Amino acid sequence: MKLIRATDYQDMSRKAANIISAQIIMKPNAVIGLATGSTPLGLYAQLIDWYRKGDIDFSQVTTVNLDEYRGLPRTHDQSYWYFMHKNLFDHINIKPENVHVPNGMASAETAGAEYDALIEQAGGIDLQLLGIGSDGHIGFNEPGSAFELGTHCVDLTEKTISDNARFFASIDEVPKQAYTMGIKSIMQARKVLMVVNGVNKAEIVRQAFFGPVTPEVPASILQMHPDFTLIGDAEALSHI
Ligand code: PGA
Repeated sequence: MKLIRATDYQDMSRKAANIISAQIIMKPNAVIGLATGSTPLGLYAQLIDWYRKGDIDFSQVTTVNLDEYRGLPRTHDQSYWYFMHKNLFDHINIKPENVHVPNGMASAETAGAEYDALIEQAGGIDLQLLGIGSDGHIGFNEPGSAFELGTHCVDLTEKTISDNARFFASIDEVPKQAYTMGIKSIMQARKVLMVVNGVNKAEIVRQAFFGPVTPEVPASILQMHPDFTLIGDAEALSHI
């Protein structure tokens, strides 16, 4: 594991954007795994800025997102498809056909296998970007998730449903399930890059990367990845 210490959120975002940018310069047709959440927003804004300045070209890049709510159409403003377009894809020259997010409207029987096949056909993931949940989740792989799963359907925890209720008209409208790449899918990426900021993540960073590897802390498996980079701001790294 490579640990990169950033001073603050902006520094973390720039350093992570530099690594993604370098990947695309080294391999213009790279397959990049992307994540939603608040943590990557700064690095997406940085990538858009460099694209506008002519420093990055996304025309041959393929992206595969980690997860999507089951039952939400792409047009729903809480879908991850919508999030990614609003915060990145609508502002860069990526080809629409090269953008992939699990299909929330697909059937649970086929959605996972189809997404795994798509990743394989694209040649596998060159660089997977991740955030981390304060319970150690990566994607929607919550504590206790099996390490050997590919993309699959998960039941959201009560905590996640209540946390997300603020984005919906009522708690009843919050999806109860999601499709997520599994830990196996993430571990198969050739490089993994995690961004983390804020003091509320400090304890989980210590447990995940300086404690035992255990399904109770899903991100801890990344200690076993041969090319894993963690970029944290000073607050997130304050317990190590
Ligand atoms: P956050 O979410 O970036 O909004 O903190 C991270 C995650 O749950 O993976």
